[in-house]
Amino acid sequence: MRIGILNSGGDCPGLNAVIHGVVGAANQLGWEVVGFRDGFEGLLPPGDFTILDRAKCQGIMKLGGTILGTVNKGHFAAKKGKGDVMEVPKEIIDKAKTTLKLLEIGALIVVGGDGSLTTGMQLNNAGIPVIGVPKTIDNDLEATAMTFGFDSAVTTVVDALDRLHTTASSHKRVIVLEVMGRNAGWIALWGGIGGGANVILLPEIPYDIDKVAEHLKERSAQGYHSSLVVVAEGAFPKHGHQTTTDENCPGEFKLGGIGDIVKEQIIAKTGKEARTCVLGHLQRGGSPTSLDRILGTRFGVKAVKLIEEGRFGRMVSYQSYHVDSVPIEAAVMKLKLVDPKGEVVDAARGVGISFGD
Ligand code: F6P
Repeated sequence: MRIGILNSGGDCPGLNAVIHGVVGAANQLGWEVVGFRDGFEGLLPPGDFTILDRAKCQGIMKLGGTILGTVNKGHFAAKKGKGDVMEVPKEIIDKAKTTLKLLEIGALIVVGGDGSLTTGMQLNNAGIPVIGVPKTIDNDLEATAMTFGFDSAVTTVVDALDRLHTTASSHKRVIVLEVMGRNAGWIALWGGIGGGANVILLPEIPYDIDKVAEHLKERSAQGYHSSLVVVAEGAFPKHGHQTTTDENCPGEFKLGGIGDIVKEQIIAKTGKEARTCVLGHLQRGGSPTSLDRILGTRFGVKAVKLIEEGRFGRMVSYQSYHVDSVPIEAAVMKLKLVDPKGEVVDAARGVGISFGD
């Protein structure tokens, strides 16, 4: 038996742990693993691939990024704009089929987020046996309680807030930290709580800048002259819209810039000195946390088990401390967003964090 694996979409700490897990589990069954380079693009004839054996995977678990490379857009893009689904052209799917047939690959593991798993689902529906593995720092995939990569991103946000805290308090400043997450506020919420933010702005809770300013002024009145504001890149004001950097690029559009807007408004409304820090791709780079290494390993091993059982069209999923599986479509039908009335938001409010609402 020979199986294929590819990573697709933005990279994410823990991808190499998945590869390590897949190769380890497959080798124990006597299977060979073919790693396709640069996401789905590696499937285009004649195929861009490498044979992955245990020796090649030695020591990769602790490495950030992916040894296979990845591509965000390209010929296989299945989502665009705000996440509208589009069909991968039949001739492109046929090309992938040709490569897989030539290489005698019996099943393909697709490690990806929302867009890439949508592509994976379409390939599966077209007759290619696919298993999905959920990957994204954004943690916005339905049907899995957590994706690997999220914990590493949150850890980076917490570290950044710890550092910003000391400089903000020395200068009695407000520092606005813009973080990733696309349309979901998980990174901002978890990172903000862990890093002791005073205000967290999420796409799920449109904010009122006057409420934000009020909260900061109250803090000053109580003697707290510095504050940390975490803004998710997808956050937007009540009656307003998201801030995008490039609406015209192919595939899903890029969010960004809201941090600076919020900072300017804070200066105007509070008279306080403020600065912005955009954390950007630091959240995606570097070594995975131990949690992400372990989750990635468990996901990889489970993906091989699903192939062994012939349960194609399914995605590995993490539920109640257990790795199980769900149909891929259960994960890509809608995004998993922060519940504004949920327990985590309540906990944040409980320690005095404002959501500007
Ligand atoms: O989906 C992961 C993510 O890091 C988002 O949080 C962010 O909006 C996007 O990817 C950035 O993509 P790119 O690396 O293409 O700029």
